Amino acid sequence: MKETTSQPTTDNQTAESTQIWPVLNPEVKADPQVEQKVKDLLAELTLEQKIAQMIQPEIRDITIEDMRKYGFGSYLNGGGSFPNGDKHATVKDWVDLAEAMYQASVDDSLDGTRIPTMWGTDAVHGHNNVIGATLFPHNIGLGAAHNPALIEQVAGATAREVMATGIDWVFAPTVAVTRDDRWGRTYEAYSEDPEILASYASAIVRGLQGTPGKDFLNEQRVISTVKHFVGDGGTEGGDDQGNNTASEQELFDIHAQGYVGGLNAGSQSVMASFNSWQGEKIHGSHYMLTQVLKERMGFDGFVVGDWNGHGQIPGCTNEDCPQAANAGLDMYMAPTPTWKPLYYNLIEQAKSGVIPMTRIDDAVTRILRVKVRAGLFDKPSPANRPLSGDTSLIGAKEHRDIARDAVRQSLVLLKNKNNILPLNPGQKVLVAGTGADNIGQQSGGWSITWQGTGNENSDFPGASSIWDGINAAVTAAGGQAELSVQGEFEQKPDVAIVVFGEQPYAEGNGDLDNLEYQRGDKSDLAMLQALKAKGIPVVSLFISGRPMWVNAELNASDAFVAVWLPGTEGQGVADVILTKADGSVNFDFHGKLSFSWPDRPDQVVNRGDTDETPLLPYGFGLRYGQDNTLGDDLNTDSGTTATVAQLVLFDRAVKAPYEVELHSGDSKQQQSANVQTFGALSVSSFDLNVQEDARLVSFDGSESAKIAFISAFPKDLRGYWEQGASLIVNYRLDQAPTAPVYLGFGCDHGVECPGLIDISEQLNQASIGEWQTLSVSLSCIGKAGSNLGQVFSPFTLKTDGKLTLAFSHIELGVDAQANTCDQ
Ligand code: BGC
Ligand code: BGC
Repeated sequence: MKETTSQPTTDNQTAESTQIWPVLNPEVKADPQVEQKVKDLLAELTLEQKIAQMIQPEIRDITIEDMRKYGFGSYLNGGGSFPNGDKHATVKDWVDLAEAMYQASVDDSLDGTRIPTMWGTDAVHGHNNVIGATLFPHNIGLGAAHNPALIEQVAGATAREVMATGIDWVFAPTVAVTRDDRWGRTYEAYSEDPEILASYASAIVRGLQGTPGKDFLNEQRVISTVKHFVGDGGTEGGDDQGNNTASEQELFDIHAQGYVGGLNAGSQSVMASFNSWQGEKIHGSHYMLTQVLKERMGFDGFVVGDWNGHGQIPGCTNEDCPQAANAGLDMYMAPTPTWKPLYYNLIEQAKSGVIPMTRIDDAVTRILRVKVRAGLFDKPSPANRPLSGDTSLIGAKEHRDIARDAVRQSLVLLKNKNNILPLNPGQKVLVAGTGADNIGQQSGGWSITWQGTGNENSDFPGASSIWDGINAAVTAAGGQAELSVQGEFEQKPDVAIVVFGEQPYAEGNGDLDNLEYQRGDKSDLAMLQALKAKGIPVVSLFISGRPMWVNAELNASDAFVAVWLPGTEGQGVADVILTKADGSVNFDFHGKLSFSWPDRPDQVVNRGDTDETPLLPYGFGLRYGQDNTLGDDLNTDSGTTATVAQLVLFDRAVKAPYEVELHSGDSKQQQSANVQTFGALSVSSFDLNVQEDARLVSFDGSESAKIAFISAFPKDLRGYWEQGASLIVNYRLDQAPTAPVYLGFGCDHGVECPGLIDISEQLNQASIGEWQTLSVSLSCIGKAGSNLGQVFSPFTLKTDGKLTLAFSHIELGVDAQANTCDQ
């Protein structure tokens, strides 16, 4: 094999700026015996075996036989990915898969190696892919608790539940510092301020991995990952996977504190982030991954990529990306079947010297070092480890008690007029709102499913909803509790507790363009006001993954509690808001905001800012008996929303993040060529003003067909709707339709959903062969039933008949001529 040493060199300037980053002093020290063992292991590996260590496929895309044949260094299950694709997989199913993968990895009959593989999972608030597991409050709630000792307990319990399923490694903690709460991952961060990270990151790493020299990576512990390195919480506009433009000093001071704490406590892996820093994708940044993290800071574990994150480096695809290894990525997270071409390409690139052998050896050394430190060569196989298969650990009472305590400590009391809280449980209590008896909603994203959607209470055996806790306490105290999601009652209650807030979301889907709660649909506010109008005092319990602009809801509430995303132990809420039967305080409020609470929907404000004043500052949180500060007269004018720029969807080409999808009958295909025929549909590019700047679309009428611009994540288009925008298409009709034609918005994965408008009449009146404009108002698309807050496809054109038309420009913008539909 060819050996090259063409490592990029550090120039003086970067050497200087590297000084911003400290040299780590990790509690896990280099051990000569470990190093010797790693060296010996490495010396026995062929190139193919080394590359296999660097590839991490996903359980949906490999078989046990693939593991036997290739001997992957690790594998993962993504959010909402289960053994046998079964959401209700049992603990035994999880252990069986772990065991089978492990045995295949140490079976050398096909690949010639006996290196144990390891399984990584997103246990980000408890072992959240597993039915019956204890789900702890999401990090935003734990941040409000300001209690590192509690965090360590949470992490320890998580580690034990993960070990019960035979899994070795978790992709946690997220040590992001969120600076713009429109980011859909805000709740995965403990705080907007780095201060908490200093103590939290080390506490959680200790809780997961154990303490070096004591119980480090013993049979109760799992390998941890600090993620996503670095700057994920500071992207422009709070865009998921966006660009962080901070100076290097700021990047360190704000976004890197969790790495200092987490790596010093001995975290063995770091996940590279999807985001860019100053325009460069971190997955491709030799400076950040190699010069800063490894050379300067001295991190000696390995860097794992994020979900095909390498494919986003300019010049790379998911299948082909030597750039990432050369930048310093040690392990490619390669879900999707593209792991295979990636594997073969990396082998070729190492052979040809595109990736130096020294780099491959360094990557594999790091991976093996962690495996040796974790005792993977000595531990029994997954099924035979002490905690494996112990179903009593999943959702164990001891773990649920920690979670319930965490819930109590995380609640933040924002308003408490006339000291209405705590409530005496001996009263007649109405409990209302969509969140009242909804464990899925109170758990948020990364709960059984990736986005946290599609769950029922029965998917959380052993859990309690917020209603369950209130009902139990009120009943025990001789009071009366009544549940009505709609806030209806027969006998007037003494008090109403309304539980409402955000519906679950995770990455991408949770991004907003402003923080107004229930923008365009104030149904919860209406309920609060209706109850107040009947003379019933109202206590609001607000479930959310971030602070939101809720001035109107605050005005309509006597008390208002930020409950964040408490997870499966909803009864922790009743513990705090209700007194003991004798009227004395049961548990006082403890939580303090770890995020500033906004005073306007478009406010971006963080602790220490001098140009913006939040409604409630970082650190705010009332205790019982303290004076209430918020009146009932907060400003409810959302202000003139900043003009939303037009959104160009097509101009010479379809604009990112959209891709063109062709549907015919029940099948679909992504457009991949300039001229493409798919079933009843054909699309081709042609020159209008410049080369290939327009498209010709023709439907042959043989079956129902549609063309759609679609993205993996939905976009919130309510701002465009508020400004009276329309979907505007510049088109030329070449052949008039023979059946109705529909234009409008579509749903994820081409699923049929309301949001299409019949445009046959306009087309039938249009002159053939002339360029013209057609507009459909978003108010009409919304009226047709489209959820404008979550649009996957902002352009869908559909017909069952024949039609030929060309288009040259498509956008969302204001067309004063467009017909609108009254709401
Ligand atoms: C997320 C990571 C996660 C990974 C595996 C990615 O999309 O950004 O946080 O660990 O998927 O599920
Ligand atoms: C996976 C997640 C992952 C995401 C990335 C999903 O299918 O289950 O774990 O983060 O894709 O896009």
